[in-house]
Formats: sequence, C-alpha cells, structure tokens
Amino acid sequence: DWNMPDYANEAIEKVRAQVGQEEVILGLSGGVDSSVVAALLHRAIGEQLTCVFVDNGLLRLNEAEQVMLTFARNLGVKVIHVDATEQFMGHLKGVTDPEAKRKIIGREFVEVFQTEAQKLRANGAEAKWLAQGTIYPDVIESAGSKTGKAHTIKSHHNVGGLPETLNLKLLEPLRELFKDEVRELGIALGLPHEMVYRHPFPGPGLGVRILGEVKHEFADLLRRADAIFIDELRAADWYDKTSQAFAVFLPVKSVGVMGDGRTYEYVVALRAVQTQDFMTAHWAELPHSLLGKVSNRIINEVRGINRVVYDISGKPPATIEWE
Ligand code: XMP
Repeated sequence: DWNMPDYANEAIEKVRAQVGQEEVILGLSGGVDSSVVAALLHRAIGEQLTCVFVDNGLLRLNEAEQVMLTFARNLGVKVIHVDATEQFMGHLKGVTDPEAKRKIIGREFVEVFQTEAQKLRANGAEAKWLAQGTIYPDVIESAGSKTGKAHTIKSHHNVGGLPETLNLKLLEPLRELFKDEVRELGIALGLPHEMVYRHPFPGPGLGVRILGEVKHEFADLLRRADAIFIDELRAADWYDKTSQAFAVFLPVKSVGVMGDGRTYEYVVALRAVQTQDFMTAHWAELPHSLLGKVSNRIINEVRGINRVVYDISGKPPATIEWE
C-alpha cells in the first residue's frame, strides 16, 4: 500500500541520513525533475542546500524571474542566479551545426557550475554532494547506451558530465521514480501544479529551437512568439492535452504585406505533440481557430515575424525538436 505523502517523508529521512551535516549543491533548471529535487532537499536539509540557476540566454520568457520567485522568494531556498548569457552567446557565435551547439551549451554549463562550486568552497561552504534530478527512465536509458543498446540520435547533455569533473558524491533522490511519481511527489511537497505539470524543456533550451546560428535577436523574437503560443494553448484548455508544445525560429525570410507596406521578415513554426514516452509522437490536431489566433497574435505582436507555419510531422520520422 503506497502513498505519496509517506513516500515524501521517507525520502526526506533518507536524504538526512545520507548527507548528515554536509553541504549539497544542485543545478536548478526550472524543469520538473530538478524543481522536485530542490523542494525535497530544502525540506530535508534546508540551509545545507545551495542551488545554482544558470541563465544561458536560451530560456523561455520570464523563466529566470519565475524560478527565483518560486524557489528563492516563496520557498526560501538558497539559489545563486548566474547570468551567463554573454558567455554562452559568445561561444555559440558562428556555430550552426546542431551537435556542435549542444556540446558547447553542455560544456559551458559545466564551466559555470564548476566556477560557482569553487566560489562556495572559497567561502567556506564547500559542497560534498552534487544532487541531480535523475529519474528511473534516465537510469535505464544511460545503462542502455553504455552497453551500446540505445542508439544515440542526439546527445542529451543533462545526464552525466558533472560528477567526474567536480569530484562530488552523487545524490539522486528521484532515481527510483517514474515521471508521474515525480509529479505526485512535487505536489505532496507543495510545489504549484503549474510547475509540476509543465511540459518538458530540453537542456540546451532555445539553442536547439533556433535553427542554425544562435543570435540574441532570434532568441528574443522566439521567446515572445513561444509565450503567445503557450498562453493561447492554456486559454483554450489545450496545454494539458498536449505533451509538449513550443515555437521554433527559422532563420529564413519571406515576403508579406502589412498595411500598405511590403514586409520581408522571419518565419516561426509551431510544434505541438502528443506522446506517452517521447520515443514516438503524433502532431496534435489543434483546432484551426486556435492556430489562427496564435498566428494572428504572433504576427501582430512580434515585429520581425511575418509568417507562422504548423509542423505536421510525426516522430518518427521527424524528432520532436527540430535540432
Ligand atoms: P526528440 O527531439 O529527440 O526529443 O524527439 C525527445 C524529448 O527529449 C527532449 N530533448 C532533450 N532533453 N536535453 C534534454 O534534457 C537534450 O539535449 C534534449 N534533446 C531533446 C525533447 O524536448 C523531447 O521532450
């Protein structure tokens, strides 16, 4: 007989027994898994937890503010907010290859994290533990790739990488849980429904949703278009009926008319999918009226975009992300 509040209490006790009086560091992304780990560890060990939130300039609209509000302001979690936008953008300049972009973003994340860990050490709050939001399916997947069973189509950068370079003990309190259990645990720990039932967001963020070279200007346009799409999905009660939905920036210009002028601006693609396991997915049959509204709003409100298209590709053969 299994119940989530009991599980939460057991998990809290287990963490306390495991880490004792030592300090723990956690990379908080704002995603479901790291958020639940943060809430759990905060309950278990309070001030012994330090979270590092890295703004790489590739986050969604107002994401940094929301994470700081939820964790630092409302829950009182110690969160170091690092604005590393220029560092990431600088290293991504001129890079167009999707795998190269992923590697750079992953590498810079480790860089920033390591620097913050060293600062803590210098301040006498040396972390002995690295907490990670690894969940059961991640454990299975990386076991598969070690034995060569799973075929790597894209390099996912959020599993592994950090522990070896930092020489920390690993704390993975969600290791036995499936995604729906992680969500229940988040609710039991008092996290807001909206945060716990959020669509997944890839580690490389908008970096893989801006095709080709990543530029500030493109990221700003994409953030605004994406926010409008998500807004309208929520308003139409479609957010929870899709597994993942987002906008993609295409660095292609097409001709349009606006008032009595000709425009020559960029294109945004909308992607919304339904899936159980993200290994296969169907494109969501969103109502045409909803798509129409989103398109009108994006074109009217985001100067620089004059055309919106809808992605009707399944996975396979397409992937969910465009890069
Ligand atoms: P694809 O595009 O491979 O995506 O069909 C499947 C799921 O994985 C997410 N995704 C990532 N998540 N780091 C992540 O944490 C990554 O590098 C990454 N690449 C893809 C994608 O958003 C979808 O949910």
